[in-house]
Amino acid sequence: MSPLSTADIRAQFPALRREENGTTVAWFDGPGGSQVPYSVIDAIGSFLTRGGSNHGGAFAASRDSEAAHETARDAVGDLFGARPDDYISFGMNMTSLNLALSRALAATWGPGDEIVVTRLDHDANVAPWLRAAADRGATVKWVPFDTDTYRLDLERLAEVVGPRTKLVAITHASNAIGTIVDITEATRIAHDAGALIVVDAVHYAPHGLIDIAGTDCDFLLASAYKFFGPHIGAMAGRASLLEELDAYKVRPSPATGPGKWETGTQSFEALAGVTAAVDHIAGLAPGEPTRRDQIAAANAEIQDHAIHLGERFLDGLPKSATVFGITDDLTKRTPTYAIELDGISARRLATELGDRGIYVTDGHYYAVEVMKALRRTDGGLVRIGFLHYTTEDEVDRLLTALHDLA
Ligand SMILES: Cc1ncc(COP(=O)(O)O)c(C=O)c1O
Repeated sequence: MSPLSTADIRAQFPALRREENGTTVAWFDGPGGSQVPYSVIDAIGSFLTRGGSNHGGAFAASRDSEAAHETARDAVGDLFGARPDDYISFGMNMTSLNLALSRALAATWGPGDEIVVTRLDHDANVAPWLRAAADRGATVKWVPFDTDTYRLDLERLAEVVGPRTKLVAITHASNAIGTIVDITEATRIAHDAGALIVVDAVHYAPHGLIDIAGTDCDFLLASAYKFFGPHIGAMAGRASLLEELDAYKVRPSPATGPGKWETGTQSFEALAGVTAAVDHIAGLAPGEPTRRDQIAAANAEIQDHAIHLGERFLDGLPKSATVFGITDDLTKRTPTYAIELDGISARRLATELGDRGIYVTDGHYYAVEVMKALRRTDGGLVRIGFLHYTTEDEVDRLLTALHDLA
């Protein structure tokens, strides 16, 4: 395995040359959305340039759109390590797909049924289930994370899951504090109780290998704009389950197959971009025999890079910085660091950094339960995210700025 060449990668991302106040921007806001390589921009542009038509036409441009759709399903299937019988459906974003799924699943619940959500999740994998449970008179059970170790308590999950549990909604990794969750174990716990499991892989996708077949989860959702693609969401799930469920859809749209979950006309140009984004990841490790193998090898390199940058970052932080997240074993986290500097609000710190061309996020980033648990509902925390295109120099620049401001 060869280490990632950040220089080669960066040359593919035009936005990384953006300037602010005379300096090149350092993009640490990846957990809010990554930048895209030329290959994605070109795929979107060339789809539009060639002319895109809606599906179902008796002419070549329409067949091209249909082909772009199927090609994107194959690509995302490879990225997700999907089972042969999984459906891959697309939608505006993860939130809208999860709301549709929650609405359909809720129709199968009743009073006395139980739904399990976690305090580590983004609200897109909490609120839909709270609403759906309230609609059906189902009970919601919460799984906390440990605010000292920042791990999700899977023993607690095993305790709260029982014969009445219909569903476990869980994140693959926290978009706020970076904790990675053992989805194989969570799925085993859910399935042992006869419950279904929905995995939010939005944050995890650019950092590690998603493996639906290996984990055996029932549903998994992600968003391409977090993994170097355009703004579009994807949902994978067992065909047998998705066929049984009643999707909220208009009458002429497909009643079976993955199209059943795709409301309205899809963004065909974004679908072309998704395929290019998956191919970008696979292209980081071109020596492997299949695209899935390439994605697996690329993720191993991405993880090594993340750990290397994470160690450098943690070692160099000023004394007045507090990291809210795992620091003792970086393999258990993504390189997404929620921090605080004594005496400086998150907004002020983000603004000062932004003025220096260093882009970080501040606030709760919709991980409202995380901020409640950390008692940081007032202004939240500054979030710093590394991606495969982040360099040591950028980390050093960030550390220098943090020392100046501390
Ligand atoms: C972990 C996580 N889940 C869900 C979402 C929502 O995704 P989308 O914007 O595609 O609806 C986000 C967005 O930041 C996220 O980080």
